[in-house]
Amino acid sequence: MSLIEVKDLKVHYPVRGGFWNRIIDNVKAVDGVSFSIEAGSTFGLVGESGSGKTTTGKSILGLEKMTAGTILYEGQDIKASGTARTEYNRNVQMIFQDSLSSLNPRKRIESIIAEPLRNFEHLDKEQEKLRVIQLLDIVGLGADALYKYPYQFSGGQRQRIGVARAVATNPKLIIADEPVSALDLSVQAQVLNFMKKVQRELGVSYLFISHDLGVVRHMCTNIAIMHRGRLVEIGTRDDIYNHPLHIYTKRLLAAIPETNVDGRAEHRKQRLAIEKEYEEEQAKYYDKDGFALPLQAVSATHAVALPDDLLHELKAKGKA
Ligand SMILES: Nc1ncnc2c1ncn2[C@@H]1O[C@H](COP(=O)(O)OP(=O)(O)OP(=O)(O)O)[C@@H](O)[C@H]1O
Ligand SMILES: [Mg+2]
Repeated sequence: MSLIEVKDLKVHYPVRGGFWNRIIDNVKAVDGVSFSIEAGSTFGLVGESGSGKTTTGKSILGLEKMTAGTILYEGQDIKASGTARTEYNRNVQMIFQDSLSSLNPRKRIESIIAEPLRNFEHLDKEQEKLRVIQLLDIVGLGADALYKYPYQFSGGQRQRIGVARAVATNPKLIIADEPVSALDLSVQAQVLNFMKKVQRELGVSYLFISHDLGVVRHMCTNIAIMHRGRLVEIGTRDDIYNHPLHIYTKRLLAAIPETNVDGRAEHRKQRLAIEKEYEEEQAKYYDKDGFALPLQAVSATHAVALPDDLLHELKAKGKA
């Protein structure tokens, strides 16, 4: 059984307008998304701005009203109420992109990290402090951080504090919404390494949300690519990075910056070729309203929103 199973999730927002302020349209922020996350693994949800990633994450946290669909946690519907719900709230935590606004500026680090502990555990002052020091240690910060305020830390350090707070209640799943997007490349790597260390030590799963396939590459076991509220491709890391089939995935891959100076000219050429293919071929991959086609399985792990003729072509070549 998967830790989390999202089944055909839809979140549509009404758009109001006109003289009577009636509902005139719907924004399909998430429109029929399904995936599952295995215990102890990292699942990447990748797509451009506005594709519906945060809305999906918030639905899993229970912060967004679902229009349709089901979310199962260890096989149980999260809409169930009562003690199951309290357990769920404790087991699913979030790390935000913007640590300056998500960490209360008027509170010291000790109470910021202790807050989830106070909600779910009854520790005395001494135990609580020890626990916070342990949590700081996991993310490479010393006990001197306890009495400081968020503004006294760098962006990378603040993200590590966010990681420490998210793991305080020993959750099963952490939803990390663009956790390193605001950081410099070198600091990104450092925060990601701490996230991996936390995973190794505590066995937590991540839903890692990002607009950048380069960032999630070394983090994720499985990845879904989202575009305009729908998944266009889903698969293992190998499926997505080594055998991408959707034009949009290929374009995101081509957009990963080339760090090797010698490879840059070649990389630029490839990127331009993909851009050209995207311009010419993209219409095939979307319906008349510009939304992704239904996903089609091409292997046991890999599904792609392909038009029928391309799928047949792949089958004929023995690639699906
Ligand atoms: N409360 C809301 N009311 C109306 N529309 C909304 C609301 N929240 C989000 N949307 C719309 O839903 C779509 C998806 O938004 P979402 O924030 O999930 O995207 P995202 O993939 O997280 O983007 P980003 O990378 O910019 O964070 C967008 O078109 C957004 O404008
Ligand atoms: Mg977002």
